[in-house]
Amino acid sequence: MKVLVVGGGGREHALIRKIKESPRVDSVACCPGNGGISYDAKCYNVAATDIDGVVKLAKEIKADFVVVAPDDPLVMGMVDALNKEGFKTFGPSSAAAIIEGSKVFSKNLMLKYNIPTAGYKVFDKADEVIDYLKEKNEFPAVIKADGLALGKGVIIPETLDDAIAGVKEIMEDKIFGASGNNVVVEEFLTGPEVSVLAFTDGKCVKPMVSSMDHKRALDGDRGLNTGGMGTVSPNPYYTDEIAKECMERIFLPTINAMNSEGRTFKGCLYFGLMLTPKGPKVIEYNCRFGDPETQVVLPRLKTDIMDIFDAINNETLSDLDIEWSDDACSCVIMASGGYPKSYPKGIEITGLENGQLDGVTVYHAGTAINDGKLVTSGGRVLGVTALGATLEDALKKSYDGVEKIKFDGAHYRKDIGQKALKAAVNGK
Ligand code: AMP
Ligand code: GLY
Repeated sequence: MKVLVVGGGGREHALIRKIKESPRVDSVACCPGNGGISYDAKCYNVAATDIDGVVKLAKEIKADFVVVAPDDPLVMGMVDALNKEGFKTFGPSSAAAIIEGSKVFSKNLMLKYNIPTAGYKVFDKADEVIDYLKEKNEFPAVIKADGLALGKGVIIPETLDDAIAGVKEIMEDKIFGASGNNVVVEEFLTGPEVSVLAFTDGKCVKPMVSSMDHKRALDGDRGLNTGGMGTVSPNPYYTDEIAKECMERIFLPTINAMNSEGRTFKGCLYFGLMLTPKGPKVIEYNCRFGDPETQVVLPRLKTDIMDIFDAINNETLSDLDIEWSDDACSCVIMASGGYPKSYPKGIEITGLENGQLDGVTVYHAGTAINDGKLVTSGGRVLGVTALGATLEDALKKSYDGVEKIKFDGAHYRKDIGQKALKAAVNGK
């Protein structure tokens, strides 16, 4: 079969690599893809948000299956449009993708169905938010734009002045566009964070192995929030006991809640969790695979991913045993100098051959091929990924790889996985 993957980052590259392992798959295409992905899949210059363009492409190349990976086309209804034309797909309908598309929706859902999350209040006027923050006078405060904002729609100001400035930027200057028409102000929670991606066909939910993201730009969790500077799997804070509690109090109730709302979720549901002193709570839902969580979760998947996608389509996921390797996995992101603020593009990358390097798997997030040379084309550029018998082994391989890859201004965190290593030692 021929599979089309919509998207063009490291997550899509990891999906493509896994899909290519399926004996049933003859070829994989990707739109728009990127330079490094083009070594693994034929890339077509159609934007991931161009619904008509993607439907047309799927018809032209006679795709047997289409995987829609990023949040915006899912929220915009790309899967609905493809299904209407008879294509088999992986990804939720627009009605279900709202679980990520609107924070107001997801917070109200959790309140209604008693799913543990931070207490919150919704506002549609900047002066009312500011009055509320002044009156409460509790910092840090957590302020979230309602809609999609490239993972940057959350601010956690330490002072009232910063909070006021942030609210004005979101609601008046509209730095995230219409996403900032409403905001949610949340209770500030503390505790280790865990990412759990889960397959669901709307009837049952099968969590994947856990992972830990490193969202801040600099070592020691300092600096600005980014899309993610690296990940490890498993996440040692996520014990079997906590997993059981999450299944009972969060995962199943969420699937049931979406069914009750007439918004059955089929695809990969991402649970961003915080393990607070009062138990696990949901920080956010995403309607898709995480990036860069996918890069450390899928290499551990032993079951044919196309069998999983089919089972979700046929609503027979409960009959399928999904197997995972016991190896640990680490992904260190190499980013452009300046990211997550402005950064140059088109910088030559050396040290790779056909986009890869012995000893690691290099998932390409933002690369292009110009005049036969591999160059940077995004903020996050590469995800240098390795499996190992232990997390230490995996990290050593990832960092050995990172040392061999060069581009001017390259920036990466040197402490990916350190928190997990410490937790694993203390936890035993
Ligand atoms: P989100 O985009 O919703 O994942 O938020 C980005 C990051 O902000 C999360 O990974 C957390 O580290 C932090 N965060 C979000 N909500 C809260 C909260 N209620 N309390 C504390 N930290 C939060
Ligand atoms: N790594 C966080 C996300 O995919 O939203």
